[in-house]
Amino acid sequence: MKESRLCSMLGIEHPIILGGMGGISDGSLAAAVSEAGGLGTIASMSYTAEELKAEIDKGQSLTDKPFAVNVSLLRPDAGDLIEAVLEKGLKTVITAAGSPKKFTAALKDGGATVMHVVANVSMAMKIAEAGVDAIIAEGTESGGVASREEITTFTLIPQVVDVVDIPVVAAGGIGDARGYLAARALGAEGVQVGTIFLASKECQTIGDVYKHVLIEADDAATGIAGRGAIGLRMIKNAFFDEVEKAAAEGKSGGELFQFMESKMGAAAKDADNGAFVCGQVTGMIREIRPVKDIIRDIVDGAESALKELN
Ligand SMILES: Cc1cc2nc3c(=O)[nH]c(=O)nc-3n(C[C@H](O)[C@H](O)[C@H](O)COP(=O)(O)O)c2cc1C
Repeated sequence: MKESRLCSMLGIEHPIILGGMGGISDGSLAAAVSEAGGLGTIASMSYTAEELKAEIDKGQSLTDKPFAVNVSLLRPDAGDLIEAVLEKGLKTVITAAGSPKKFTAALKDGGATVMHVVANVSMAMKIAEAGVDAIIAEGTESGGVASREEITTFTLIPQVVDVVDIPVVAAGGIGDARGYLAARALGAEGVQVGTIFLASKECQTIGDVYKHVLIEADDAATGIAGRGAIGLRMIKNAFFDEVEKAAAEGKSGGELFQFMESKMGAAAKDADNGAFVCGQVTGMIREIRPVKDIIRDIVDGAESALKELN
């Protein structure tokens, strides 16, 4: 398969990125993905700058390979988080939400590679102009915050690839070698994956109930809760209905997020009454596997699927 510019840019073997998952993607999971040849990512969402530094230390104690940190630019302390990342010598920052314009220059001066997450073509064009090194284009199939436009990965990627010169990473709905190969065929130079790494042995921040819910879920098990205020894709259960009810009563996006956050990640312990955030690809999860097996199957499987196509 054609070599991806991402591998040399990020210093990795396989262009497979662990998506930052707030309260879940910690130093251990990031290190496991990097050790397996991908790019691990620590999600800063639930950390202060000091806590983030400690988590980076943990990751660095487990691997010498590069990993990234994901930072939401809507955080009032985004600057402190970015400073923490640079102070710890990490070379890649994945920014999400808001505009990276304000921080891109400082990050690049600090020697970092910057990737930003977008969900539509016009944002992709603006972000490329802001000077980021790569774009992560995320379709609505993904777990986590859903974009208003709800554009699918399959349609978004080729449209973004057509308007930018920098590498594009596909996110949302990639569950195995077939999804990876399809993303590469659409023009993406790599993939960012969240949901399938939730179902890994090394994902220790969530409990067995969460993993069992992922295995049991089928293709139609997820929905977008709180659409229009703060849409979040998660499993449709009794808690999902409660969020929908609160949204119908006119609760703000901030209030809804706070409500959902109280039952997310490690707090999602009850199959009916938890926020099991995940993407549609959860329907493909059959078992809990080591990270290295998940990555190896994607890489090797894509090569054999390509041979078969030829
Ligand atoms: C549980 C969960 C939490 C997430 N939290 C964040 C986050 O804090 N910041 C962010 O930019 N993306 C977040 N995402 C999106 C992931 O980084 C990634 O782009 C996405 O999971 C890819 O789609 P997939 O779930 O279909 O693999 C989250 C996804 C999941 C499943």
